[in-house]
Amino acid sequence: MILDIDNDEDFRFAVEALREGRLIAFPTETVYGLGADGLNPDACRRIYEAKGRPSDNPLILHIADLDEIENLTIELPDKGRQLAEAFWPGPLTLVLERSALVSDVVTGGLDTVAVRMPDNELTRRLIRGVGRPLAGPSANVSGKPSPTLAQHVAHDFGERIAGVIEGGACQVGVESTIVDVTVEPPVILRPGGIPREAIEAVIGAVVMAGKVDDDSVPKAPGMKYRHYAPQAAVYRLEGAHRAEKIRTRLSEQVERPVGILISNETLEQLGIVPEDVICWNMGRLSHPEEGAKRLFEGLRRMDAFQVREIYIDTWERTGLGEALMNRIDKLSLSWDELVLNK
Ligand code: TXA
Ligand code: MG
Repeated sequence: MILDIDNDEDFRFAVEALREGRLIAFPTETVYGLGADGLNPDACRRIYEAKGRPSDNPLILHIADLDEIENLTIELPDKGRQLAEAFWPGPLTLVLERSALVSDVVTGGLDTVAVRMPDNELTRRLIRGVGRPLAGPSANVSGKPSPTLAQHVAHDFGERIAGVIEGGACQVGVESTIVDVTVEPPVILRPGGIPREAIEAVIGAVVMAGKVDDDSVPKAPGMKYRHYAPQAAVYRLEGAHRAEKIRTRLSEQVERPVGILISNETLEQLGIVPEDVICWNMGRLSHPEEGAKRLFEGLRRMDAFQVREIYIDTWERTGLGEALMNRIDKLSLSWDELVLNK
């Protein structure tokens, strides 16, 4: 059921449902979250069940106001406070030492907890209404592209959740940047809506997880699982002559329809797109935030058209390009593998 939170009745329904331990999906500036009362372990367990999510993959707690953080952590380090002041509400998640109030169900048994304040007025009103932090992973079935529209959530969960709050299209389109501030220097566990450059401008140098093969660097447990993938295999277009690569591939005996998620630049080089090629425009190569905003919706479109294979552009890994390419790397194969497969 899609809810309009400006309507009093719908607002009260959502608050009551959450207080009873049921699931309500909520909009944020990054992607839609699948919300449960974050202090009710049974409610949080329902999130794992509904998503088909492994129980060692912890949840983020969403707060509406900064003072709520004091209940959830035993310590907010200086750098954490500086980041919170600079970027909250916004697409940043802080990993902190957890307090006794936070259940193992939320943390997947870790002694840290992930907290974020979303930049969405409706959702912060909902959190205040419930009077508790909301646990909320992305509101997609595990492994599928994250939802950036209320319809995406309805598609994945339908009547299996109590409702989804209509909040329109998510502005950022990729998930929050996760920064572990329990270690020094802090570690970016997942690139996201706040670019690394902006974080370093506030707290100085940080380490990127995954770039170092070192057991002392913590990892986001979720990063080891298959992610974001549509049904068809996706192949990356890299380097020069991208349109040519697509044209050559299309001239072979490829099952149709195929899908392309490409930039303005590649689209221009490609010229006319054949009818049995489903095209999703990802904006300019020089503006990766445009691609970030459109990525998940494009992938879900490809599923809806049941395309047989997908070709996707690639961006430079600066600014939001780092988060965009992190998602693309996880869901795609290199072009060479396409050639070898056939
Ligand atoms: O933008 C977002 O962050 C969205 C919206 C809904 O807020 N949420 C989101 O949640 O992306 P989810 O569950 O799809 O991803 C959360 C990630 C997972 O990779 C998980 O492993 C990691 O955060 N995580 C959660 N708690 C953690 C902790 N204590 N330590 C390290 N990683 C943690
Ligand atoms: Mg997710």
